[in-house]
Amino acid sequence: MNNRLIARRMLRVKPSPTAVISDQVRELEQQGKNVINLGEGELDFATPDAISYAGIEAIVNHQTKYTAVAGTAELKEAIAQKFAQDNQLCYHKDEIIAGSGAKQLIFNALMATVEDEDEVIIPAPYWVSYPDMVRLADGEPVIVPCSEQSGWKLTSEQLQSALTDKTRWLILNSPNNPTGAIYSASELKALAEVLRDYPNVLVMSDDIYEPLRYRGIGYQSFAQAAPELADRTLTVNGVSKSHAMTGWRLGYAAGPAWLISLMQILQSQSTSNPSTISQAAAVCALTQNEQFLDGWRDKLAKRQDKVLQTIASIDGLSADAPDGAFYVFANCQGLIGKKTADGKILNDDVDVAAWILSQAHVALLQGSAFGMPGYLRIAYAVDDALLESACERLSNACQQLA
Ligand SMILES: Cc1ncc(COP(=O)(O)O)c(C=O)c1O
Repeated sequence: MNNRLIARRMLRVKPSPTAVISDQVRELEQQGKNVINLGEGELDFATPDAISYAGIEAIVNHQTKYTAVAGTAELKEAIAQKFAQDNQLCYHKDEIIAGSGAKQLIFNALMATVEDEDEVIIPAPYWVSYPDMVRLADGEPVIVPCSEQSGWKLTSEQLQSALTDKTRWLILNSPNNPTGAIYSASELKALAEVLRDYPNVLVMSDDIYEPLRYRGIGYQSFAQAAPELADRTLTVNGVSKSHAMTGWRLGYAAGPAWLISLMQILQSQSTSNPSTISQAAAVCALTQNEQFLDGWRDKLAKRQDKVLQTIASIDGLSADAPDGAFYVFANCQGLIGKKTADGKILNDDVDVAAWILSQAHVALLQGSAFGMPGYLRIAYAVDDALLESACERLSNACQQLA
């Protein structure tokens, strides 16, 4: 490889750990191994039929040409309606943008605003892509570790001590990937109170797991809890997790018109509008009755219970019930230092995850990928029988540790 052909910014980033684990799973499968993948961040449910048919209809009706970069008027209207109904947030059409996944919108927002080692506060554990996106924008991720004891949430004291005059963004993700933690309105207000004295700091509220909550827990988005900061808050959401539409690549964001306009310029010079077919499907997703969600939540809650019971039965693992998303973030510090049947010592969470993959053929992700070593992320959005079998394999494998 000729290093002179590689941009320096590429030396600052690494491939997404979720993509790495998927490659390892494929490799084991090619060797004829039966691997259960609890590493993927996507629901196993099919996209609801009505939404798929809306996409098919768009194709048949030749809605297959370029649209406005930030999305069709119909989609923006559906997004505005969603924010008004679910979050009591009122956005004008020039304050809304649709893109090819929430990921693209987060990337574009950072690229449009961060430069020259500007700082971005990211509470850990965090979604794997935030720090590398900040680095790609020439910024400096400022990782603030949150503790299991504080429910994995950033406190106002922690925020206060992380803020500097170089801070450009605070990224909040609720419900959180990987912990499922959900900020209450009063916790968000306390963070907003601190930010009031920092007018040059923007807030990114990544709400992508919003509807996936358990035990009736309520929800407030940051801009809703702190309306006085709405003019510097970007609320990001999408249909990937809420409607099992990861492959459709459709996300949306709302915030101040100046920021949305910059994101739109960036998008116009890179990918243009999101797929017209996905836009039509998303209009259906956002406007149809969402009764299917109750059934999904019931199923997911049962799976969460199964995983928590299994964890409770394994000496060396522990976890609290997460409030949202579809992950359990398990403490595996009790497995670290243990010896495998072939005499190897498990030195850290990376060793533990690799050993579980090789021994039990169950793929999960090490906490260090999320900035929190000593933990494992178990995604339970897989079919019940597979999950049952994965739990059994995990228990059997851990019994062999000395
Ligand atoms: C916290 C979080 N934000 C954003 C995304 C990206 O979602 P999308 O599929 O809409 O790009 C993910 C996907 O895993 C996520 O976990």
